[in-house]
Amino acid sequence: MVVKNIFALVTASLLFTVGVACSNGLCKIGDECSTNGDCQAGLYCFSCTASFSGSRCVRSTATNQFHLLNNSLPFNKYAFLTTHNAFAIDDGVPRLTFTNQEDNITQQLNNGVRGLMLDTYDFKGDVWLCHSSGGECHDYTAFEPAIDTLREIEAFLSANPSEIVTLILEDYVKAPNGLTKVFTDSGLMKYWFPLSKMPKSGQDWPLVSDMVANNQRLLVFTSIQSKEASEGIAYQWNYMVENQCKFQLVLILCLILQFSIGMSK
Ligand SMILES: *[C@@H]1O[C@H](CO)[C@@H](O)[C@H](O)[C@H]1NC(C)=O
Ligand SMILES: *[C@@H]1O[C@H](CO)[C@@H](O)[C@H](O)[C@H]1NC(C)=O
Repeated sequence: MVVKNIFALVTASLLFTVGVACSNGLCKIGDECSTNGDCQAGLYCFSCTASFSGSRCVRSTATNQFHLLNNSLPFNKYAFLTTHNAFAIDDGVPRLTFTNQEDNITQQLNNGVRGLMLDTYDFKGDVWLCHSSGGECHDYTAFEPAIDTLREIEAFLSANPSEIVTLILEDYVKAPNGLTKVFTDSGLMKYWFPLSKMPKSGQDWPLVSDMVANNQRLLVFTSIQSKEASEGIAYQWNYMVENQCKFQLVLILCLILQFSIGMSK
């Protein structure tokens, strides 16, 4: 009898809790919400049918690891939030392909994303970011010329002189020096972290504080092995390994990249 009553009480209080939703900036992460204003600072109200029912407060901004700790450890000792198909944004242009991100590149960087996965293609005599198949970009799968995205990254690096950005290219560019040209044109070469300083065989990377002091704050990796010799662009599987990681939100693919383990995929 007592047990039953306690059960009824607990059930009633649970119903009561669900019925009286939080509001006015008091909702914590995972709480149900109806507007962004319901959620605490650093959160917003989001609906993601793949992960949860209704609308709930989710994080909008990642914690800056260099503020949480400091930046005097080797680069490979930190984890960086990375977005998959970072360029695949719904910008209102109809396409026969899917989008992966809500935020544009500048917003992603401002919200703490420090790794961008980009698919680069030869298209219209230039390098484009494209969501396609068979290594061919089409009008209906093209997102934007790579130069536009690279210029956003250049603006972020120049406005944030302590930050480091990593680009991981699923690379279909066959034009000789096609990537070198677009990186040069975007003004990003001045931040280029040189291949000669990238450790192989599992050694530690340089200290973040040294990378910042040297202004070598852009790391670029390509999926095409031969470009390491031909253009000096690091072949990604000489320097990183990939963990399988579950979709927490469709918005962000949680990808933990461990640098410098020195193993192939
Ligand atoms: C940075 O943090 C590490 C780990 O807490 C600490 O050992 C190191 O002394 C700190 N470096 C500086 C320059 O504060
Ligand atoms: C990114 O989104 C913000 C907010 O909507 C907007 O102000 C900005 O112009 C966008 N940037 C680009 C390059 O589209």
